[in-house]
Amino acid sequence: MTEPIPGPRALPFVGNLLDIWQDRDIPLRGLERVAEAYGPIYQAMLGGKRRIIISSAALLEELTDEKRFSKVPPPSVSNNPGPKGLFVAKNEDPDWHQGHRILMPAFAPFSVQSMFPDMKDIANQLILSWARKGADHKILATEDFTRLTLDTIALCSMSFRFNSFYTDTMHPFVDAMLYVFSENTARTSRPAIATKLRYKANKQFDEARAFMRKVSQDIVTNRRANPTDKSDVLNTMIYGKDPKTGQVMRDELITEQMLTFLIAGHETTSGLLSFATAYLLQNPHVYLKAQKEVDEVIGKRSIEAKDLQNLKYLNAVLRETARLSPTVPVLQKHINPAIAHEVVTLDNGRYRINPEDHIILLMSKCQTDPKVWGDTAADFEPERMLDENFDKILAEYPGAWKPFGNGKRACIGRPFAWQEALLVLAMILQNFDVSLDDPAYSMKIKQTLTIKPADLYIRVKPRDQMD
Ligand code: HEM
Repeated sequence: MTEPIPGPRALPFVGNLLDIWQDRDIPLRGLERVAEAYGPIYQAMLGGKRRIIISSAALLEELTDEKRFSKVPPPSVSNNPGPKGLFVAKNEDPDWHQGHRILMPAFAPFSVQSMFPDMKDIANQLILSWARKGADHKILATEDFTRLTLDTIALCSMSFRFNSFYTDTMHPFVDAMLYVFSENTARTSRPAIATKLRYKANKQFDEARAFMRKVSQDIVTNRRANPTDKSDVLNTMIYGKDPKTGQVMRDELITEQMLTFLIAGHETTSGLLSFATAYLLQNPHVYLKAQKEVDEVIGKRSIEAKDLQNLKYLNAVLRETARLSPTVPVLQKHINPAIAHEVVTLDNGRYRINPEDHIILLMSKCQTDPKVWGDTAADFEPERMLDENFDKILAEYPGAWKPFGNGKRACIGRPFAWQEALLVLAMILQNFDVSLDDPAYSMKIKQTLTIKPADLYIRVKPRDQMD
């Protein structure tokens, strides 16, 4: 016998919108607040659909069973109704399979290691820009990390330079993207009819989407007009053949994949770097320990790719950051359409799930489950993420840490993001003593499609000259 899933009472027309309404700028917080009242699984009517909201490591683990559950792709940022990039394509879409087969090798750890010089080139631009600013200027860290990650993904994957450190304003691509993200988020906490009536905002939304796609399309068109023999991701898509079918990717799909990389490849990593910086600065003993490790492993010489594997503590700092503040804060699943006719339950047969239900994984809640992490689940303690401890936890609780998703739809850019984040943090610690502009800074989050710490202003004081 199954039992009803608990949850707040739904009202006619608005469902449970009002339950999360008070946090409408950060809908994530609203969902988390209701989870605190109803527990690790609850249901809510949002956007006319039953949503089942999950907050425990055990349920998350159950939802990683790809035979029973699959990803609900988010709405596409592209305004093209045609082919879909990897992130937003459905499991059964042949374009996803083709893209996955052609692109996986391009983002494998070995390929990502060969991108190290380009990553370091952009990281150096950040270091130089901060050194020029000196300790007298306050720096909005999140903004500079966005410059850095956008320039890095563009240079490494498509040999294109946005040159974001050479202008005072952010590239218009970033503004357009942030607008589209925030509008997409706002739409989840607004009745559909209210969105339809926002004529001016809807026009701006469509224009921003068209602009972003044009940036991506221009990069592809330009490469066709000016071919190079560089072995970057763009050329892999232009010339690479699907190992299964022998087909090449069509340009319309390449444009969508490029747009996906420009978005998924920078916003998330920028958030990871920002949160890591905030945690380091709020925990000075961790900061000093990480800086000491960098000094011991690298000293004053120029960092090399092989150094990264020796930065064990910094690696743990990043893991702990991604546990507490996963920058993709929710994942959505539903019953795998291939078994839609079967009875599917959750929590050892306790709750019945229907094919039309959307299951929302609240990642920060799932990853701070006290059953896994104990009384200090919400604290920042990188020591528990050192290899030996981390492996033990994952062996016991496989659903304990999933900031990059799971299974075949897991993040293709994970090795890329990790290498970039380790490199950049190591270079910052090596070159500067960083402090919070406001020593009493208390972290609040800003949610668009991803999350970031709000108003993270820092100051940087250059350390001794490098050799
Ligand atoms: C998918 C997180 C960096 C490209 C995902 C997913 C997560 C994620 C959670 C699965 C989404 C879902 O199941 O709905 C992150 C985080 C990053 C990061 C936390 C940085 C800290 C990157 C980078 C790239 C990238 C650097 C590109 C180079 C993608 C793509 C997918 C994806 C293309 C879709 C994969 C597929 O479905 O085949 N990412 N990501 N991500 N990510 Fe990342």
